[in-house]
Amino acid sequence: MTNEKRQPVMAGNWKMNMNHLEAIGYLNKMAFSLIDADYARTEVAIFPPFTDIRSVQTVIDADHLSIVYGAQDISAHDSGAYTGEISGSMLKKLRVKYALIGHSERRAYHHETDESVNAKVKAAIKNDLVPMIAVGETLDIKQAGNAVEHTLSQVQAALKDVRSNYVGELVIAYEPVWAIGTGEVATPQDAQDMSMAIRQKVAKLYSQDVAEKVRILYGGSVKAGNVKSIMEQPDVDGALIGGAALDPDEFLRIIRWPDQP
Ligand code: PGA
Repeated sequence: MTNEKRQPVMAGNWKMNMNHLEAIGYLNKMAFSLIDADYARTEVAIFPPFTDIRSVQTVIDADHLSIVYGAQDISAHDSGAYTGEISGSMLKKLRVKYALIGHSERRAYHHETDESVNAKVKAAIKNDLVPMIAVGETLDIKQAGNAVEHTLSQVQAALKDVRSNYVGELVIAYEPVWAIGTGEVATPQDAQDMSMAIRQKVAKLYSQDVAEKVRILYGGSVKAGNVKSIMEQPDVDGALIGGAALDPDEFLRIIRWPDQP
């Protein structure tokens, strides 16, 4: 069973799906179904596209929902001539809690590097947002037997010069790239082994105390049908869910992971 010291989080990454009207419909459905016991057990987080965030904030505020929300990316810069970018202070103004940083799709399609990921982590912290840092190996790296080394080096680079008092609060999502959107899911044991390795790395870089606080998620083809065995691993504190989170009924079943087979 997941460590009781850390509240599990189920994070739905919508990617480039759902406009603001669809977001409102989705939230209304979730609000109708979620009960206090769900929120007490598991933090429910959604990561809509930027254009939905204002609408998401409005529904959540009006109905006093306990759902939290994050941005799928954040600019490393404070303001200025950066066409198309969104700053941490803009997100904070919309009461965004999390900034997802370094998702493999951003690393692959937008050429994000370990250095830019580190700069974005610092930008999030500076604006009082919680970084959710995505790390994980590609199939080539896994087949070469370098998954752990690669993933831990991404963790170390993302946290470069980040002070320890911030590290305990943040979230690290282990997402093997070969498992994202493919239907291929890591075994629960693989998810546990990598999560434990990440926690040990944080302990080495900071302290055992900090490492015990960091929440580590698994991501990659998580569904209601496989979430329970992953969540039963002691170092896995939640999941980052793409495709399956687009269906509110399926996301609800994932949030209620202890009830799943
Ligand atoms: P998936 O995506 O659940 O569709 O595999 C996960 C992610 O990219 O965060």
